[in-house]
Amino acid sequence: MKTSEKWLILIGLITIQISVSDSQQQAKPTGDKKPQSVQDLFNTTSCIRPPYKCPHPNMQFYLYTRKTQEKGELLNTLDNDSLTYSKFNPRHPTKVVVHGFGGGRNLSPSTDMRNAYFTRGNYNIIIVDYGSLVKEPCLSQIEWAPRFAGLCIAQLVEYLQYHPVKPVPPEKIHTIGYSVGAHILGLVANYISDGKLGRITGLDPTIFFYMGNNRSRDLDHTDALFVDILHTGAGILGQWGPNGHADFYVNGGSSQPGCAHDTIFQTLSCDHTKVTPYFIESINSPHGFWAGPCSSLFSYLIGWCEPKDSEYVLMGEHVTHRARGVYYVTTNARPPYARGFPGKSRRLRSITGPYS
Ligand SMILES: *[C@@H]1O[C@H](CO)[C@@H](O)[C@H](O)[C@H]1NC(C)=O
Ligand SMILES: *[C@@H]1O[C@H](CO)[C@@H](O)[C@H](O)[C@H]1NC(C)=O
Ligand SMILES: *[C@@H]1O[C@H](CO)[C@@H](O)[C@H](O)[C@H]1NC(C)=O
Repeated sequence: MKTSEKWLILIGLITIQISVSDSQQQAKPTGDKKPQSVQDLFNTTSCIRPPYKCPHPNMQFYLYTRKTQEKGELLNTLDNDSLTYSKFNPRHPTKVVVHGFGGGRNLSPSTDMRNAYFTRGNYNIIIVDYGSLVKEPCLSQIEWAPRFAGLCIAQLVEYLQYHPVKPVPPEKIHTIGYSVGAHILGLVANYISDGKLGRITGLDPTIFFYMGNNRSRDLDHTDALFVDILHTGAGILGQWGPNGHADFYVNGGSSQPGCAHDTIFQTLSCDHTKVTPYFIESINSPHGFWAGPCSSLFSYLIGWCEPKDSEYVLMGEHVTHRARGVYYVTTNARPPYARGFPGKSRRLRSITGPYS
């Protein structure tokens, strides 16, 4: 590993720590110790413990339905009865949600996302909770821990696929991954032996796994029937792409309105974490995040793009699976973020651009 690569990882980790502390302030406080120094980041006591077999006690699947919104049901992929006697309903849409480092099923944004879906209707929402697995990732495992997580999630997908009472084929599963979680979903595809995931939504995939330049570690359009990616911190913490069938660059894709903070780390981390509120709002938004194609980021920033009405697509939960290529979308700086259909002016224009 080159020195420059190590620095990139460190910057990534430090920023993750900042975003973790942000989300913990909003959610419940925990007694977990955070790394105080570079030395701590290399401390391997928080690494995955053997045996390296799925299911792993530190990596659990919690099912939430409208009837069990408050308390998830733990699914045991080694026992078919576990799903049979749960509230899982194969006729309802199934979502599998993988958070980033430091997330957890009882923390925002996982909780907010569930609330949004249950406001809308009936869903089976399975939260992949590996909070205790990679709470403070150790550098010696940062590369293969996501692979291990991918393997275990593939086991969950096959558990649902071959279930004797409540089967759901992978094609009907929508998976949503935030940050590192988006990469983990890209890896799941490598382990599914029969069929393909229906949809992977990548919420600002982070850049620091890309340094090896190894495509098989990436989330890309081959990993599911439809791959949509939202970019909010692209190029710095987020990966630049485009990588999916449809890539959405929000406010230009690399910096978000309302994200100017005291330190550069806080600002970067804010750009990166803004992606989840956007996606969550898209689930029930009456206005919708309408996104249009544009020939280049520069044209978008200076307001040169006027896509046809028919070229606009909705970003987020309700995106059409026929969307292809790169789209740009502008949001408000505060909620509600969605600005609706551009209307008469039709002009796609950044509110953070150089000439606005
Ligand atoms: C590593 O972390 C453990 C538990 O947090 C702590 O007891 C130990 O002193 C740390 N070791 C080093 C070298 O920092
Ligand atoms: C669940 O049932 C399927 C189909 O009968 C079977 O192939 C599979 O081995 C069972 N899984 C477990 C964990 O018992
Ligand atoms: C890319 O990664 C895969 C899986 O991690 C590995 O099997 C393969 O050898 C790697 N390829 C290169 C060129 O490093």
